[in-house]
Amino acid sequence: MEATDLRRAWAPRFTRRAAGIQGSVIDSSTSLLQRQTHDVIPFAMGSPAPDAIPTEAFEELGRAVLHAGGAGAFGYGPTEGERALRSALLDSLATEGEEVEPDRLLITAGGMQGLDLVCKLFVDAGDLVVAESPTYTNGTATIASYEGNVLEVPVDDDGMEVDALPELVRADGRTPRMIYTIPNYQNPSGTTLSLPRRVRLLELAEEWDAVVLEDDPYRMLHFEGPPPASLRALSGDAARVIAVHTFSKTVAPGLRVGWIVAHAPIVERMIAAKQGMDTCTNVFSQRLVAEFIVRGLLDAHVERLRRSYREKKVAMQSALGRFFGDVEGVSWTDPAGGLFLWLSLPPGSDSTALFPVALEEGVAFIPGSAFSVGGAFRDALRLCFSYPDEERIVEGVRRLRVAFDRTT
Ligand SMILES: Cc1ncc(COP(=O)(O)O)c(C=O)c1O
Repeated sequence: MEATDLRRAWAPRFTRRAAGIQGSVIDSSTSLLQRQTHDVIPFAMGSPAPDAIPTEAFEELGRAVLHAGGAGAFGYGPTEGERALRSALLDSLATEGEEVEPDRLLITAGGMQGLDLVCKLFVDAGDLVVAESPTYTNGTATIASYEGNVLEVPVDDDGMEVDALPELVRADGRTPRMIYTIPNYQNPSGTTLSLPRRVRLLELAEEWDAVVLEDDPYRMLHFEGPPPASLRALSGDAARVIAVHTFSKTVAPGLRVGWIVAHAPIVERMIAAKQGMDTCTNVFSQRLVAEFIVRGLLDAHVERLRRSYREKKVAMQSALGRFFGDVEGVSWTDPAGGLFLWLSLPPGSDSTALFPVALEEGVAFIPGSAFSVGGAFRDALRLCFSYPDEERIVEGVRRLRVAFDRTT
């Protein structure tokens, strides 16, 4: 009998859900930039600066983790997170005035896994999810992967235009199942949701019986004092508010360590869901972060980041003034923290067409349309100021202007 020839062409039959799975222009930029053989100044990925990664401390802490835990540092760990990290984090949150019950804490593989877990539990196919516009590409990609539909709400200097929300919802006809917000130094616009709007947003969530997904990677990276109280705190710790955080921006993104704060029954479900994903978060990374906190290094480190990123933001703004000040219709935001500036080009500009030219000139950014499910913001772009040093920031903005002139 002849064996079946398994080499013939085969067209995979994906799930219906797979059709909604989108990649991320932001994440893809990392591979794209790694492939470049010429000098490119990266304003694209929202990464800490290379000198902001505490590698020297890691060397010592890594040895300490190995010494204390041996092979266990590379074993499986509890899904809810390593005991050492959980207790270090709970103490550190309590010092910040945020008391969290242990059963409300879940350690995750970065903020992205937090977003995924929340959407997995709370977004069904066809559900309406409110989000800022522009917003974090990977957040809306996660919503789409669970077949949720995003309702885009414009953003101004005070964050999401919450007062416009009821009318937008009425026009859609569905009641939102979830509100996805990045309240502090929003990615990509850099804006912060004002206190009155936070209060109003919670009222609307109550009215609609919606879950609030508070995606908050940047809270600690403030330049002018802390942002307003978190939605979770303002809600009086209401079950409907789920906060997703990460150490990616304050310690190191490659460690892939973040956390969720939610009510215990939700955390329980998330633990079950995480067991079907990755079993546990990287144990070595968790123990490293725990040591970093326990030895009091995190606070001083974050303070350094605040100073450095504030200076870099100013450097980028003054470079924009110098190289784009003469272009009518160009403006940029003034974030009070975080990593990003939002640059608006003259109406009719096309930042997607600008991108390859800028890459040729040796500078990378993320085109504005990546931050809208409807493809808005073609005439805007996101600039990350945290990664290059100040000299490279100035040179990057100069190159951007050269590219801009080539496309106009
Ligand atoms: C708003 C927002 N949420 C979540 C994340 C994802 O964080 P992580 O890299 O820890 O998965 C990011 C990273 O850029 C972000 O900007």
